[in-house]
Amino acid sequence: MQTDKKTLFSAAQPSGLVTLGNYLGAIKNWVALQDEYNCIYSIADLHCLTVRREPKELRAKSLELLALYIACGVDPEKSCLFLQSHVPAHAELTWILNTLTYPGELSRMTQFKDKSLKHADNVNMGLMDYPVLMAADILLYGAEVVPIGVDQKQHLEITRDLAIRFNNRYSETFVVPEPIIPKVGAKIMSLQDPAHKMSKSDPNENSYIAILDDEDTVIRKFKRAVTDSDNSIAFSDDKPGISNLLTIYSAITGETIAAAEERFAGKGYGEFKIAVGEVVASALAPIRKRTAELLSDKAYLDEIMKKGAEQASYFANKTLSKVYRKVGLYSPERKK
Ligand code: TYM
Repeated sequence: MQTDKKTLFSAAQPSGLVTLGNYLGAIKNWVALQDEYNCIYSIADLHCLTVRREPKELRAKSLELLALYIACGVDPEKSCLFLQSHVPAHAELTWILNTLTYPGELSRMTQFKDKSLKHADNVNMGLMDYPVLMAADILLYGAEVVPIGVDQKQHLEITRDLAIRFNNRYSETFVVPEPIIPKVGAKIMSLQDPAHKMSKSDPNENSYIAILDDEDTVIRKFKRAVTDSDNSIAFSDDKPGISNLLTIYSAITGETIAAAEERFAGKGYGEFKIAVGEVVASALAPIRKRTAELLSDKAYLDEIMKKGAEQASYFANKTLSKVYRKVGLYSPERKK
C-alpha cells in the first residue's frame, strides 16, 4: 500500500448476489481509481449480520466477494483487500462513535426505515447502528474519498457529521470524507420496476442482473426488461425503463448517453434490449470465469485477506490509539 497518495475507502456487503448495480455504481469505479489513490476495499461482513444470515452461507459469500473484487479488476498488489471482521478496530471505534451518536438521527436513516419494514421481525440494534459502523470503517483510515452509489450517500453524510462532531469535541482527529458518485450508473434501477433501484434482495429474479449470471440468463433478463409505451430510444424522466437501459449501456461501454441515443435512433425496443444484453453479457463473462478460477484456489484468497488485514490493522490501530488517548482512556504505555 502506497502512502504518498490520498486514501480511498469503500466496501460492499457479502450478502448474497452481487448485482450489475453494485458493479456499475461502485466496483467498476473502484478499479478505475486504483492508480490515483491509496485504495482500501473491505468486505463488510459485520454489516451483514444486521439481518439474519445462514452462517455457512455468509462465510462462503465472503470468500466469493473477495474473488469477485479481484475478478472485476481490483488488484491486490495495488489495493488493500480485507474482511472487516479481521480488523477488530472497526467494532472498537464504532463503540466510541456510538457515544457521540443520537438515536433520533439513526432512526431517520432511509435504509434503516426500509430495512425495518422488510425485516419487521428482526429490527435489532445493529440494523440501527449500521451507519456508525460504516463511519468507523471510513474514519479509521483517514479516507479522503469514498466511492459509492447514490443509496449510500446518506450514510456518508452521517460519517461526515460524526467526524466533525468528534473533531469539535476532542480536537482535530478525523479527516472529513467526500463521496465519489459516478456520473452514469450511480443508481441502476430494477429491470422490472424502474421506479425502484436494482437490488439483490428483490424476490423477482428478472429484476436484477447478478454479476455471475451466465450469458443466456443476462440476455433473457434484458429481453424481459420493462420499457415504456412509445417506441423512441431517448433518455427522459418520463421514460424510466428506456433511460435505465441507456444508462446501463453507457456505463458498460463508456459511450455517452447522447451517443447511445444516436446509435439506436429509429431502432425498435426489441433490438435495443438485445444490444444492451449483449454488451453486459460480454463484459460479465470474463469476470464470471475469473471468479470461478480464483475460488478454486482458496489458499491464494486466504493469503490475500490475511495480508490485507495486517496492512489495514496497522493504520486502523494507529487511529484507534489516537482516539482512545483523545477521549481519555488510560494506557500504561503512554506518558500522559
Ligand atoms: P452494498 O453492499 O449494498 O453495495 C455496494 C455498493 O454498490 C452500490 N449499489 C448500487 N449502485 C448503483 N445502483 C444500484 N442499484 C446499487 N445498489 C448498490 C452501493 O451504493 C455501494 O456503493 N453499506 C455499504 C457497504 C459499506 C461501505 C462502508 C461502503 C460498509 N462500510 C464504508 C462505503 C464505505 C453497503 O451495504 O453496500
